[in-house]
Amino acid sequence: MRFTLNVDHIAILRNARGEVQPDPVTAALLAEQAGVDGIVVHLREDRRHINERDLRLLRELITTKLDLEMAAVDEIIAIACDVQPELATIVPERRQELTTEGGINVIDSISLLKSTIKDLHKHEIEVSLFIEPEIEQIDAAAEIESDYIEIHTGTFANALTEADKFDELEKIRIAAKHAKKLGLGVNAGHGLNYSNIKIFREVEGIDEVSIGQAVIARAMFVGLKEAVQEMIRLVK
Ligand code: PXP
Repeated sequence: MRFTLNVDHIAILRNARGEVQPDPVTAALLAEQAGVDGIVVHLREDRRHINERDLRLLRELITTKLDLEMAAVDEIIAIACDVQPELATIVPERRQELTTEGGINVIDSISLLKSTIKDLHKHEIEVSLFIEPEIEQIDAAAEIESDYIEIHTGTFANALTEADKFDELEKIRIAAKHAKKLGLGVNAGHGLNYSNIKIFREVEGIDEVSIGQAVIARAMFVGLKEAVQEMIRLVK
């Protein structure tokens, strides 16, 4: 399984005082040196964490791969087509949310997503759709020629009982298997941490996990290199 690091939280800390430090670009470069397989950032419409300067510098400097999380809106699609990340992960976006709260409903937005995928493909950008582990959503993602899905693991991560956790993990297992059968790449993310990640090594078909909060939080105490390498040892 590959592990990509989301560095948005570094930018949140920087923006809290309108300062230039800590710099998410520096964090990304250090994380690459520590061994991550890619860097993830979410360019939100409200720019609450990374901004265009960060995105363009990341594009120029990182040597692994860039995964741009984004809403399917004209302004951000145009920026993505210009910057050309290796992967664009389409997520739903609501102004008031603290973080992405769940997967996108592919069926409800099928024509918008189909044209977004076409635009991104024209610029040689692979596309992933962040969705719930539901068969109908996966079928719709395959139908409109998404390259990947990213399975939302937040419900699993937040489950309060072992039974609920088990049920959600079963859904994720079935979803990953189904997506693979349709030829889709399978990523997973949201709420993954140093304890709940271990079980994912046994979920067949997951190509990549995208993790932010847990690793950046740990980095505050042990440093980014150590936090990244601890996660790499658990993921690989
Ligand atoms: N994947 C997606 C699509 C996300 O929106 C986020 C949060 O930005 C993550 C993964 C990472 O989640 P976390 O910060 O909880 O590890």
